[in-house]
Amino acid sequence: MLAPDVLVGRPMTKNPELLFFTKWLQSPLTVASITPSSPQLARAMALSLPECEGLVIELGGGTGAITQALLQTGVDPNQLVVIERDPYFYRYLKKRFPEIKILCGDAMNLMSLINGMPAKLPIRTVVSGLPFLSMNAIAQKRLLEQLLSLSDSKGSFVQFSYALTSPLKKSVEKELQLESRCVARVWQNVPPAKVWVYKKKSVNNILSDNPGESKETILNVAR
Ligand SMILES: C[S@@+](CC[C@H](N)C(=O)[O-])C[C@H]1O[C@@H](n2cnc3c(N)ncnc32)[C@H](O)[C@@H]1O
Repeated sequence: MLAPDVLVGRPMTKNPELLFFTKWLQSPLTVASITPSSPQLARAMALSLPECEGLVIELGGGTGAITQALLQTGVDPNQLVVIERDPYFYRYLKKRFPEIKILCGDAMNLMSLINGMPAKLPIRTVVSGLPFLSMNAIAQKRLLEQLLSLSDSKGSFVQFSYALTSPLKKSVEKELQLESRCVARVWQNVPPAKVWVYKKKSVNNILSDNPGESKETILNVAR
């Protein structure tokens, strides 16, 4: 039988793969993967952060594959906040990373979750494992507007996706004047994934670029 502890509310399984698979069976569109991100994908995500100071916000922590890589690549645990909606994943993350601020909540309410925190720091970036492909344009826009209002003009947003193209709807990228770049392809993940970095377009880019056009520049980040 599959991880019955998760299904009937007994103490959690310690096996992240089993927990993930069981949660995927329950909510395939929300969990969006049968297994946690591979260490290679998690590292590629962590290496795509901008080089500046400030808070790193991770959305959709799951069992902590990306959280672990963020810590391993030098993110200060005091400057990392993880938001996870599922209570089982939330409890798992709390146990696995007692030194990190983990919030149980819906990333759609990002502003109120962050505003409820005692210390306010500049936001360095938002790193997301959220299933953007399962969201409609309205939901994507609602979330991205909050992300953009949190960070200054240099702020970026890092997202992975199993799709061949950017997981954001073209209409949303265009309306919010976002520039998207695929910065890594990770074949070792199941399924293979791409890492995308989004930024608000600069005024010059808005004038010269084809609006909403995605750029693909693979940097060597998936070491
Ligand atoms: C594809 S999994 C990624 C998990 C982990 N980051 C990883 O890479 O292994 C998506 C995660 O996002 C969480 N999630 C989905 N929708 C969410 C939402 N609206 N707010 C917060 N977490 C959400 C799911 O519960 C799940 O843990």
